[in-house]
Amino acid sequence: MMVCEYKPGLEGIPAAQSSISHVDGQKGILEYRGIRIEELAEKSSFLETAYLLIWGELPNKEELEAFEHEVRYHRRIKYRIRDMMKCFPESGHPMDALQASAAALGLFYSLRDLHNPAYIRDSVVRLLATIPTMVAAFQLMRKGNDPVRPRDDLDYAANFLYMLNEKEPDPLAAKIFDICLILHVEHTMNASTFSARVTASTLTDPYAVVASAVGTLGGPLHGGANEEVIQMLEEIGTVENVRPYVDNLLQRKAKIMGFGHRVYKVKDPRATVLQNLAEQLFAKFGHDKYYDIALEMEQVVAEKLSGKGIYPNVDFYSGLVYRKMGIPTDLFTPIFAIARVAGWLAHWKEQLAENRIFRPTQIYNGKHEITYLPIDQR
Ligand code: ACO
Repeated sequence: MMVCEYKPGLEGIPAAQSSISHVDGQKGILEYRGIRIEELAEKSSFLETAYLLIWGELPNKEELEAFEHEVRYHRRIKYRIRDMMKCFPESGHPMDALQASAAALGLFYSLRDLHNPAYIRDSVVRLLATIPTMVAAFQLMRKGNDPVRPRDDLDYAANFLYMLNEKEPDPLAAKIFDICLILHVEHTMNASTFSARVTASTLTDPYAVVASAVGTLGGPLHGGANEEVIQMLEEIGTVENVRPYVDNLLQRKAKIMGFGHRVYKVKDPRATVLQNLAEQLFAKFGHDKYYDIALEMEQVVAEKLSGKGIYPNVDFYSGLVYRKMGIPTDLFTPIFAIARVAGWLAHWKEQLAENRIFRPTQIYNGKHEITYLPIDQR
């Protein structure tokens, strides 16, 4: 067997062959099935992009309408899932609530028919349709309210914002939210997608695949960074404090949240689109002083770290967009998950098409031939 060099974090090691998305980290390009994200953000919708990723081609009019219709009419969650969620501690993180609820869905659909296209489609529809309902339900229940029923007459993004805030959203906010979902839907072999593919490779059900990926997305080095960015901007408080704050972090060799990426060595193209969306929201709903702090921070970090290719990533501006929409900080990562479910499902489907169970190796650096020591001699 060929012995490979050990690469911490598997940096640069291909874990799969995939035609779902492509990143050029030097040029700052991200494509879904060959189409630039900027074009999809401008012309597509989240559900159309999800279809593109999962089935490989843009849907025609009838295909898109049928898909949207199916997702629309599967939004309600079972009362037993809702009752289970009611028992979750309200102080718990919504990502943990989402992970548990996604896994619990699998209890209702335990028959695995992984070679049947109808099973694949039903699972995709059910997960895309119910994950937003579960996120909104937990939010309302932890405030002591009953969850709101999904509205069949609203599109995907508008319905989620309606369920979350118990009122119909402003059309611009709903449109921008839909674009945010497009920007977060897929991103090659990141940690949560890798987790989804490893789980998928065991031929378990798609609910377990999504639940494992949700658990992985939650960490502060991955999707959880968007929450920490807002906390950081609040802590900084004023534009004048930015420089000493950054200096202090760098002196302590701490990471600046929302900056840096394993693949991008220039500004993340998603951050550029998100920044533009934030500006549109501020123009309509009023300025946010934290945006000034963020702009100053981008400049100061560029001065100090551009040599290492450290620029804003997707998480730097997304929080400012969600904040302006009145979304609580700890829902930023679950919203990321709502979008990324489609990417995970595209990888699930691709993994099944040419599956081999993941079973990497390790470099053992422990001891050998150690004698067991009885407890009274230790
Ligand atoms: N702030 C300061 N320095 C940084 C940062 C940062 N955010 N990111 C990387 N660096 C520096 C490191 O200190 C290191 O410097 P050195 O070579 O002098 O030791 C160098 O850049 C390489 O950094 P690594 O940690 O080795 O890069 P890696 O590819 O392992 O990590 C990661 C990428 C996890 C995204 C990292 O940049 C980070 O922790 N960023 C902050 C958290 C964050 O925003 N995560 C969201 C990423 S996007 C997403 O998952 C959706």
